[in-house]
Amino acid sequence: MITQNKGLFHLSTKHSSYVFYSNDWLQNLYWGSKIHGEDLTYLIKKREHSSFDQNLNLERDEYSFWTGASYLESCLKVNYPEIRKLDMTFLEFKIMQVNKDLERLTFCYKNSFSDLYATLTYDVYEEYDIIARYVEVLNEGEEVIIENFKSASVSIPKLSDYRVKYLTGKWAGESQMNDLHLTTGSFTMQSRSGNTGPHFNPAFALDNGTAEEKTGEVWFGLLGYSGNWQITFEKTIYNNVKITGGISNFDFTYTLSKGESLKTPVMYFGFSREGYGGMSRTLHTFEAEQIIRKREYGRVLYNSWEATGFQVQADSQKALADRAAAMGVELFVIDDGWFGSRNNDKAGLGDWYVNQEKFPKGLSDFIRYVKSLGMDFGIWVEPEAVNPDSDLYRAHPDWIYRFKGQEPYQGRNQYTLNISKREVKEFILDFMTKLLSENKDITFIKWDMNKSLTDVSQGKTSEDKELWYKHAKALYEIWETLRERFPQVEFEACAGGGSRVDLGILKYADQCWPSDNTDAYERLFIQEGFSYFYAPSIMTCWVTDASSNNLRKYERPYSYRFHSSMMGVLGIGADISKFSEDTADEFREHIKTYKEIRKTIQFGKQYRLSSVRESSLHAVEYISRDEKEILVFAFHQGSQFGKAEPNLYLNGLKEDGLYNIEGMEENIHGSTLMKVGLETGLWGDFDSRLIRITKIN
Ligand code: DGJ
Repeated sequence: MITQNKGLFHLSTKHSSYVFYSNDWLQNLYWGSKIHGEDLTYLIKKREHSSFDQNLNLERDEYSFWTGASYLESCLKVNYPEIRKLDMTFLEFKIMQVNKDLERLTFCYKNSFSDLYATLTYDVYEEYDIIARYVEVLNEGEEVIIENFKSASVSIPKLSDYRVKYLTGKWAGESQMNDLHLTTGSFTMQSRSGNTGPHFNPAFALDNGTAEEKTGEVWFGLLGYSGNWQITFEKTIYNNVKITGGISNFDFTYTLSKGESLKTPVMYFGFSREGYGGMSRTLHTFEAEQIIRKREYGRVLYNSWEATGFQVQADSQKALADRAAAMGVELFVIDDGWFGSRNNDKAGLGDWYVNQEKFPKGLSDFIRYVKSLGMDFGIWVEPEAVNPDSDLYRAHPDWIYRFKGQEPYQGRNQYTLNISKREVKEFILDFMTKLLSENKDITFIKWDMNKSLTDVSQGKTSEDKELWYKHAKALYEIWETLRERFPQVEFEACAGGGSRVDLGILKYADQCWPSDNTDAYERLFIQEGFSYFYAPSIMTCWVTDASSNNLRKYERPYSYRFHSSMMGVLGIGADISKFSEDTADEFREHIKTYKEIRKTIQFGKQYRLSSVRESSLHAVEYISRDEKEILVFAFHQGSQFGKAEPNLYLNGLKEDGLYNIEGMEENIHGSTLMKVGLETGLWGDFDSRLIRITKIN
């Protein structure tokens, strides 16, 4: 709810208050646990350290325009080439209009001299303790060039310490959790690779260094953007902490002619009083209810990649499909290699017609076969890239990003297409539309991107520098069109593993591929990091033979692999055609179990009980929405005689509720399960258990 009183705006959610003061500009006064926001008038006063450091309130600006006075990260910087000729600056923006209803607040700023408007929006999601912010700039005057463009900045209350948790990664090692204690100065996480990127994910959580999984106050933010982004943390010498997020300053400008407008991505800010666990549960619910398209559940899929690589001949795929169907797989997905002359990663990318040698009777015949086995069908594409050795590239060498007179950079033997070109965008929409309308039974697309953007801009002209932004914009437009044209098709976002996971793509994607590392043990780290900010219902996890494209072989029992992969949307990636009947039976049993419990995993409340990063026990609990079903996945990597096995303490149960644990005779109270805990019985190397619990009253 939004209230206004004497220039104070109070954005209150179920458990939080966000208060700022509006005069000519917006000054943050408070963000945190719920208070009587109207009290804060006593904070409205001038603050200065000395005549050398004037107006310290500017450090708490809600959206700092580049003016003569600001020295922190600026949110909007505009260059006025035409008007500058008159020897004027036109830097100042003043609030011209305020619109408020119960859930949305907008401030329309106008440049003092030019007809340039910036509208700041606050959307309050009361139930989730989340406030979404974004900005739109509209130019009604002479041409201007936008140079810095941020969605928002927020101020954190004064704390004794500022610990930031954030995810870093690399190929096959995504979503690793980091802790950083801010010191005076600034820290920036960003992507300059034209996609969300594996190196940093656009999400953070911040606390005073004492918050834990179950307790403590946590402030968090996620930027919904799949292009070049930036989140900067600044701690000033006066102990003000400001976080600014939006489009990366790197190589960015955007020219706006008269009548044109430009929008930032949305940045979501939230607050939890229940530690990091509370934050994640809030986000999982928010994503399920407000961001991701609704569906009953994610289907159990089979993916061919780790079993057959590029060799996706119809016969071998049929053998896999037979086995997959018999195991209870619901969706059979052919990965890379089904098109053009794509027999390895050196050729064929871009030639989106079915390879007749691999599918002599056509793709539709194969899809019919999969359907006759009772499974749905899905297929892999990578529309943003092209191999130099392809018909597409030979016909359109000018469609890729390149610098004049310089060989473009190749990654995985491919170039990136400039999808902001009208003809390239149309080509992608046309071939995807053809593929999906000629094969109406394709109900799943895995959209990959195996090379980040290079050779995009030489940093000289604004037109060049706009391409980073335009690539992400074109991508969203293509996905939006395809979603409209083919509402029955689900989309999985993949980028050489997990380089495209963010709340921007999740407006269009139903699920994401978090990493090419499918080792069940390493996945515990990746999936745990992922779970801090993203819901289990969007996390695809395969049970495979090995991992990291067979760079290393791993010895893990299949039960361990399944338990690790059941914690999201289950998939199978092993070469099941080679399995003995016994192994196939074991897979069938696990898949059957998963189907019984998947709604609780995908849409229930998740509790991280014990972390592989800190303990020999890794355990994650899920409680169904009606609180009747409780599931715990427990893992341990190896027994040590010198160490006692930790107990498993459950969380989120009703203290006086009575619970039945599968395989145990006694019913146990919630308080006992939470305070005394369970002995896990885990023993030996890579042991795991799925504990199924029912609340009986
Ligand atoms: C990278 C993806 O992450 C893999 O799952 C697979 O689809 C390959 N690309 C195919 O080239």
